Amino acid sequence: MKFEADRLLLFGATGDLSQRMLLPSLCALHADGLIGKDLRIVATARSEMTTREFRDFAREALEKYLPKNRRGPMADFLNQISYVPVDATTPEGYDELAREVGNYKGLAIFLSTAPSLFEPTISGLKRVGLTKGNARIALEKPLGTDLESSREINDAVAQAFNEDRIFRIDHYLGKETVQNLLALRFANILLEPVWNSNYIEHVQITVAETVGLESRVAYYDDSGALRDMVQNHMLQLLALVAMEPPTSFDATAVRDEKVKVLRALRPAKPEEVVTGQYRAGALDGKSVPGYDEELGKDSGTETYVALKAHVDNWRWRGVPFYLRHGKRMPERITEIVVQFRCIPHSIFEGRGARTEPNRLVIEIQPKENIQLTMMAKVPGLGSEGLRLRPVPLDIAMPDAFSDVVRRIAYERLLLDLIHGDQTLFVRRDEVEAQWDFIDHIRNLWAENDIQPKTYAAGTWGPSAAVALAERDGVTWHDD
Ligand code: BG6
Repeated sequence: MKFEADRLLLFGATGDLSQRMLLPSLCALHADGLIGKDLRIVATARSEMTTREFRDFAREALEKYLPKNRRGPMADFLNQISYVPVDATTPEGYDELAREVGNYKGLAIFLSTAPSLFEPTISGLKRVGLTKGNARIALEKPLGTDLESSREINDAVAQAFNEDRIFRIDHYLGKETVQNLLALRFANILLEPVWNSNYIEHVQITVAETVGLESRVAYYDDSGALRDMVQNHMLQLLALVAMEPPTSFDATAVRDEKVKVLRALRPAKPEEVVTGQYRAGALDGKSVPGYDEELGKDSGTETYVALKAHVDNWRWRGVPFYLRHGKRMPERITEIVVQFRCIPHSIFEGRGARTEPNRLVIEIQPKENIQLTMMAKVPGLGSEGLRLRPVPLDIAMPDAFSDVVRRIAYERLLLDLIHGDQTLFVRRDEVEAQWDFIDHIRNLWAENDIQPKTYAAGTWGPSAAVALAERDGVTWHDD
């Protein structure tokens, strides 16, 4: 049953995510009148602080991370927040938390903490009755480090919450352009008839980042690129591209279709995966250190992954999905490239004109553009013969919707959590299917002692990744 929460309990409230995303998103929603004045936010973390001190802390975060024109009456928003220090690993503190939450009509809990704290936090909440009734819980990644540990987490959460009250976050699903993929595919008649192996030759999904390790030394070195980005965000993107049309835009229908794709992923072969780790190089004209130097020790952790995936079902038979993700790439870009097949017969060949297959490029970030290349005749009388050239049909989303506020992904996700809409959250069976695919790759690396190849920071990854695509006559879409 859907209900609007009038209490939001935020664990990890002093953490990085809270400062950069959660508090700014909540404040922006408040400024736009999208969260009620009766929503009370109870923030908690280990640090000893009073409510007043936390409000000052939150104000600083808002001033730093939320543009001025989106802040609204900040003091009113801050007044809706109170703070209770809780050490999640000890039973003390939860009674005080329950008192602060008080009587509520609907409770939403957000765990923005290390997964090792999920279990103690949930038992603490359970003991004081904060998991009862309609309480719902949002969990941040990483949900485990493999299938087994993810099952343990899911089992622990399931002790206190039914699946319809668990909101697993994949922040990519909160991005407008990611949701727009669904609109593009299922709100237009044009694409669906050609969205299959008869017309599509291959798909590329790229998530390139310029950042390196940043300050996340312990987490990242344990995780690596495959588990940090491919297991969740990239497989979700793949599922959205490959899924069958759901019967409606609701949580069950959408997630039923996504999980079918994830379960149809064929276990990768060793030669279908390339991993890399960046060495020192140059980005934007500045030299940047290598991963090992940033880390301060030698490490076998991958900062780059390229792989060729197959969705073994009728629609996608024989269509490879090339995925690649890396840190310290030359530019930050997330894009999906759908490469169509060649036309079956060219009437222009006799006139010496070459045709190229159509290509749809969906740029998720930073630019939010959709581009379809079509063949067109180059104007002219044809003294040099008839010439054809691909020209782009462009939709620049920011221009098309210049009057609409661009929102942070977490605004959508927090609002859906408060309203109880699970459509953009990941269901347990999806997470487990994702882990299944990833665990298999990690086992291959372990069995074959595969170490990451090196690439210079500021380049597009190891040359083996180029070869992975080129073996099939495919070029990564770098331009
Ligand atoms: C996070 C990863 O989930 O996503 C980070 O842990 C990564 O390593 C980040 O940088 C990328 O998110 P976005 O929204 O900037 O593409």
